[in-house]
Amino acid sequence: TVESGVRTFQLTAQKGITDFPGIGESETWGFNGAFLGPTLRATRGEKVAVQVDNELGRPTSVHWHGMHLPAAMDGGPHQMVEPGATWTPSWTVDQPASTLWYHPHPHGETEEHVYRGLAGMFILDDDASAAASLPNEYGVDDLPLIVQDKKFDDGELEYDRNGSEPGILGDTVLVNGTVGPYADVSTERVRLRLLNGSTARTYTFAFEDRPMTLIATDGGFLDAPLSQERVRLAPGERAEVVVTFEPGETVRLRSLKTDLGGIVVPQTAGGNDEFDVIEFRAAEKLTPSPEPSWPAAKDAAADEVHESEASVTREFVLNTREINGEEMDMSRIDEVAYVGDTEVWNVKSTQPIPHSFHIHDVQFRILSIDGKAPPPELAGPKDTIYLQPNVDYRLLMRFEDYADPAIPYMYHCHMLMHEDEGMMGQFVVI
Ligand code: C2O
Ligand code: CU
Ligand code: CU
Repeated sequence: TVESGVRTFQLTAQKGITDFPGIGESETWGFNGAFLGPTLRATRGEKVAVQVDNELGRPTSVHWHGMHLPAAMDGGPHQMVEPGATWTPSWTVDQPASTLWYHPHPHGETEEHVYRGLAGMFILDDDASAAASLPNEYGVDDLPLIVQDKKFDDGELEYDRNGSEPGILGDTVLVNGTVGPYADVSTERVRLRLLNGSTARTYTFAFEDRPMTLIATDGGFLDAPLSQERVRLAPGERAEVVVTFEPGETVRLRSLKTDLGGIVVPQTAGGNDEFDVIEFRAAEKLTPSPEPSWPAAKDAAADEVHESEASVTREFVLNTREINGEEMDMSRIDEVAYVGDTEVWNVKSTQPIPHSFHIHDVQFRILSIDGKAPPPELAGPKDTIYLQPNVDYRLLMRFEDYADPAIPYMYHCHMLMHEDEGMMGQFVVI
């Protein structure tokens, strides 16, 4: 059904068979196919509707990670779609251009649903992104890279929650579901939309021999582009980078040893692993890319939130599988926020295992890390942040638009085994 003036999408969660070359054929889960899902794309101001059909044979849900939208449309554990059922959320996109994503959120089973392949990107555009001179031809010089590590056993994708921290670490890295991935490059500059779609692993992306220009984080553009040798992404985080290529060359994007900061045994968290992520093969003749220009900082001013407006401060302590000493309870509302309020959330992990903290509905700014201003790569809009143990993170956000006293949004660790095992809480906006 197509309502006029509404951008409609359709997603069917289903099981399928994926042939992983050199590994084998395996049962996998996907949206509209055997593995992962289509990239959805919409523009600020547009009304969108998604018809979600569940052919999985198990209850699931679809959450729009990073999206500002009514709680009833959020796709968290309170919006389950039963087997054979259809759920049709709709909302108006009203946030800056950004690289968001979608994935299931069934309480206790999110890790399994994402791990088996249910995930996709949701790209938002706006006037500022349209006016900027950046590589923007999807699939040509604007490439989505969904990075995930998997384990296989005798050719079959192996889902085995063995409880070791911080969850399943695979020895095979897939980009967009592909083993041994490469991309043909036909232009001087390419924009990569990196998504850490893994359930547990944190990556430190780096090219062998050149920096990347970081232009955007989870919720949109940085105030200014930033040359970076390395880009670290914890599960759920995204980054947009622009990379320059020379004619005829082959270069690899790698993941390097990750500084997990204060994690006692980094190897249990995969922190010492180094591996190739994807190879780029540049053509002998590259199409010149226009000199990049970024959206002016003033374009973002309307979305800015100021600390001086904050009227509420909340504390969140993450430890074992609890936040503030409580495991997730679907029937308990942990926090109540008011529409229009600006808040500061002080978030801290007090144990030496990795956690990444994610908040639904909002994009936040990091005010400080350990009392100091965040480094520039963490100064942009974020919805998920890696928490170094025993370090104070102060986050600033404003709750807007959608009051609903009955249906909560979630905040949780995005290491999905932790989330499933209870490291999640619920807030309503009223
Ligand atoms: Cu990406 Cu609550 O999740
Ligand atoms: Cu989310
Ligand atoms: Cu965690």
